Parts: sequence; structure tokens; C-alpha cells
Amino acid sequence: MNTNKILLTGASSYVGARMYIDLKDKYTITGTYHSNKLFSELRQLNLKDKQSIKDSVKREKPEVIIHVANHASPRPAFKDKIDFIELNKQATKNLIKTANEFNCKIIFISSFAAIEPDNIYGKLKHESEELIKQTKAGYVILRPSLIIGGSPNTTNDRPHNRLLRSYENKDQVAEYDTSWTFQPSYVGHLSDISDQVIAKDIWDKTFPVVIDKLVTQYQLAKDIIKPLGITVKPIDKQFTYPTLRESTDSLKQFSLKPSSYQEMINTIIKEIRLTK
Ligand SMILES: NC(=O)c1ccc[n+]([C@@H]2O[C@H](COP(=O)([O-])OP(=O)(O)OC[C@H]3O[C@@H](n4cnc5c(N)ncnc54)[C@H](OP(=O)(O)O)[C@@H]3O)[C@@H](O)[C@H]2O)c1
Repeated sequence: MNTNKILLTGASSYVGARMYIDLKDKYTITGTYHSNKLFSELRQLNLKDKQSIKDSVKREKPEVIIHVANHASPRPAFKDKIDFIELNKQATKNLIKTANEFNCKIIFISSFAAIEPDNIYGKLKHESEELIKQTKAGYVILRPSLIIGGSPNTTNDRPHNRLLRSYENKDQVAEYDTSWTFQPSYVGHLSDISDQVIAKDIWDKTFPVVIDKLVTQYQLAKDIIKPLGITVKPIDKQFTYPTLRESTDSLKQFSLKPSSYQEMINTIIKEIRLTK
């Protein structure tokens, strides 16, 4: 067991729950939740409460904070913009201030949306990335694109969980978008890279976390759930998100598994078969 202590925010989220189970046997890790206690040992933390952040960090004394808990798309901002800004920017600011007081490093789960922000989600991820760079003890920014792969959280309305829904509703034809092309991200790579940057002491870096292949959501669905017997149909949702292609050269040092698109698809099909 690595002796580093970790505080992981959003341990009940789709991404955070997977990172929590991947890392919990290797580190002394405290996972936090806000309203959904997915694992009985998680501690409650409302990231919009500055004092609670300070109390948590003071109590847990982590060497590394893995900051996962953010609204994961611009949609919640249409309903409550103030709440959106409080979680996706103000909380980050407060977390960094506290990290600097207690000499903690931060690994921040950002997004490809931060590269060329075209909505409030990308804009705040971009601004949070700039703030994270002020973490004095060290920072790592991980930038995934659309994330797929198994997680203990199977219920949040995230792209991977929509594939699971299509698999559960076997009789319905599943329609998936053909308009937006992107490099997909495998959820387990976020845990692997976090583990390795801590173990190898790699700090003050930003990594794109993607598989080097451009696909659409239709192609992903066809490759993952069609072999499981689901009828997948293309639909043009006329998304206007930019197509960004980032080099994956900086990821080679991590020898990530699965390492290719096809390996990732095979891994995810196995994960889905195991959960259902
Ligand atoms: N999923 C993707 O495809 C994707 C792609 C790129 C980047 N990301 C990034 O990955 C991270 C996780 O995304 P996700 O898809 O796993 O999100 P998610 O499943 O929608 O989870 C969002 C999390 O935010 C937490 N939260 C909400 N309000 C909070 C508050 N006031 N205090 C503390 N926590 C609060 C929720 O906690 P409770 O459930 O306990 O209420 C929940 O765990 C985000 O930073 C997102 O931007 C995701």
C-alpha cells in the first residue's frame, strides 16, 4: 500500500466512483459525497461550503486531493446558473486556497471542453485549470473527452450509463448521434494516470486522457452494444461541438491498458457483461 493519503471529491459520481474503487486498496483514501452516499464509508462534503472544505482537509490531512465533483455538462446551468458557478468554479477556488494552506497537491479532472470553450461548462473548466496551476505543492490536470467504461455508479445520466440503459431496454431501438466526432476516453485511465503521477512524483503537468481514434457516439454504440444484441440506429442530432484531436504522446509514459480503441471496446463489453 502506498502511504500517500488522498481525498477524492465526488466519490459517488460516475467517474469518481470508478476512481474510488480503483484506488482504495492502494492508498489511504477518503471519498466524499454530496447527496448520494454510494459507499457506506464516504464522508459528506458540500463543496459550496468553504468552511466544510477546510474542515475536511484539516481532518483528513491528505497529501493529494483528487477533485472530481463538478457538474459534468452545461445543462444544469440552464436551470441554476449561480449553483453551477458555485460548484464548477468557486468551489475549485476554495479548494485550492485550502490546499495551499495545508500543503496538498491537486489532481483536477477537467475536460476537453476547456481547450476551446464554447459554453459555460468549458469556460469554467478553462478558468478552473488556470486556478489549479496556482496550487503550490503541485498539480496535475487530466483532460478527458466523452468518458466510457464501467463504474459502480450506473444511474447518473452519463454517456456510458445511457449505453447500459439501451442494453437493459433490449426491445427498443437505440438511436445514437452521428454529428459530433471526438476521441473517446476510458474511465479507468483516469485512475491509472492518477496512481502513476503520485507514485512517480510527476507534477505541474496537463494530460489529455483520450484514445487516439476519432469516433461518433453512433460508432461507439454500434461497437459496444451491437455485439450485445442491441439494434443501434444513427441519428443526426446536429451537435455543433468542435472536433478536437490531441496527441496522445504524453500518455506513452503510463503504458495504459487498454491501449487501443479495439482493446477498449473489448474491455467495456466485458465490463457490461459482468455487471448485467
Ligand atoms: N462523464 C463524462 O463523460 C465526462 C467527460 C469529461 C469530463 N468529465 C468530468 O468528470 C467529473 C465527473 O463527471 P461525472 O460524469 O462523473 O459526473 P456526475 O456523475 O454527474 O457527478 C457529479 C457529482 O457532483 C457532485 N456534486 C454536486 N453538487 C455538489 C456539491 N455541492 N458538493 C459536492 N459535490 C457535489 C455529485 O455528488 P452526489 O452524487 O453525492 O450528490 C456528483 O457526484 C466532472 O468534473 C466532469 O466535468 C466527465
